[in-house]
Amino acid sequence: MTAFSADLLDSIRARFAHVESCPFQGPRVFFENAGGALTLRSVVETSTTYAAIPDNQGRDNPASHALVKVIDTAKADARQFFNAPDGAIFVGESGTELTFRLISAAILGAAEGGVVLGSTLEHPASRSACARWAGIAGKPHVLVPHDNATGTVTAADYRKHLTPDVRVATIIHTSPVTGMGVDVAAIAAEIRAVAPEAFIIVDGIQHASHGGIDIAHYGVDGYVISPYKVFSRHGYGLAWASERLAALPHDSLVGGPAGNWELGTRDTGSYATFSDVVEYFRWLGGQVSDATDPRALIEAAGAAIHDHEQALTDAMLHGTGNLKGLAELPGVTVIGGIDNLAREGLVSLIVEGMPSVDVVAALNAQGIRVHVRKADHYSGNILDPLGRDSCVRVSLCHYNSPAEVSQFLSAMAGITADAAD
Ligand SMILES: Cc1ncc(COP(=O)(O)O)c(C=O)c1O
Repeated sequence: MTAFSADLLDSIRARFAHVESCPFQGPRVFFENAGGALTLRSVVETSTTYAAIPDNQGRDNPASHALVKVIDTAKADARQFFNAPDGAIFVGESGTELTFRLISAAILGAAEGGVVLGSTLEHPASRSACARWAGIAGKPHVLVPHDNATGTVTAADYRKHLTPDVRVATIIHTSPVTGMGVDVAAIAAEIRAVAPEAFIIVDGIQHASHGGIDIAHYGVDGYVISPYKVFSRHGYGLAWASERLAALPHDSLVGGPAGNWELGTRDTGSYATFSDVVEYFRWLGGQVSDATDPRALIEAAGAAIHDHEQALTDAMLHGTGNLKGLAELPGVTVIGGIDNLAREGLVSLIVEGMPSVDVVAALNAQGIRVHVRKADHYSGNILDPLGRDSCVRVSLCHYNSPAEVSQFLSAMAGITADAAD
């Protein structure tokens, strides 16, 4: 049923903390990965190690030299993970903060006039940053409507709104509400065909854990992730900026090193934990392929992650063993349709006749953690056009198991039967 043998899945799960049990709740199935993925045990250890080091970077002592080396190694690892041969890589306060920083620099640094273009699929991180800085720069902010039926946005959708004066464009790689991925390379090519000089910035925050980032082939200028959503820990975001975006004026110390996007003393531990993430991808790639080249290992891991997650979401939608899938359960509506090739490890659903908060609570009572998405500033862009006030987001990662999907479906059979009564 899955891309991983039972033994490999056990080895994968052994590498993560709190897989089967929550320190606050006890045993639970973790299907809240879109809110924050499980943390690698290696990340926990590395964080502890670096939290105890008092030294700063840029001093002439062994500790300081070691810290700088760790940061340099982590940047090289991140470059490999992103497949970003050039440009700048740096950490910031969060994915949201870095999204704001890249977008503000692009909008303020772009030529006079023109338009800022994004889509209604986007998370408020990029939409809000564009709204704010486009307003300050006096550029209209145009939003390409996404497709309500498929829960995604395409190059053809962007094409209808493209003009040669697009100065900055934003693309979300994967929606955290519908769970559907976007063809970033195709949209970027479409934008470049009409507005070759546009700065294109991608929110990759929801996509990163689902396998496969390939910046060299996207033709974009900025890419942001939140490492706690890809097996590292909370407390930092990670960004890549193309050489031409990185060269734009941005917040930095007067007289400081040119091209430096980091503000203040860097947390070596955050960089070091990202090396752990990349090492994990290389390890997984070695388990599922004969590849030896480090980037090929990461790509193999990404493909296997995608296949495993697809097997799990297929089981969730169409059933497994004698358990009915969501598609067959009475009164269940799945956002973005049942069979959608753009799906990335996430199923958002509505149980007719039962408020989503109650579905989440009923699942929680059976030890299954999912999350409600409400039509608020985070998810109203997806739910309002569907005429829904909320949905239940069930989000998986590659360490989830077929048994956990079965547990979920068995709980859902009872919940939907209760809702139908
Ligand atoms: C697509 C997307 N963009 C941005 C964010 C914001 O990320 P953070 O809270 O880590 O800054 C999220 C968080 O869920 C997200 O899913």
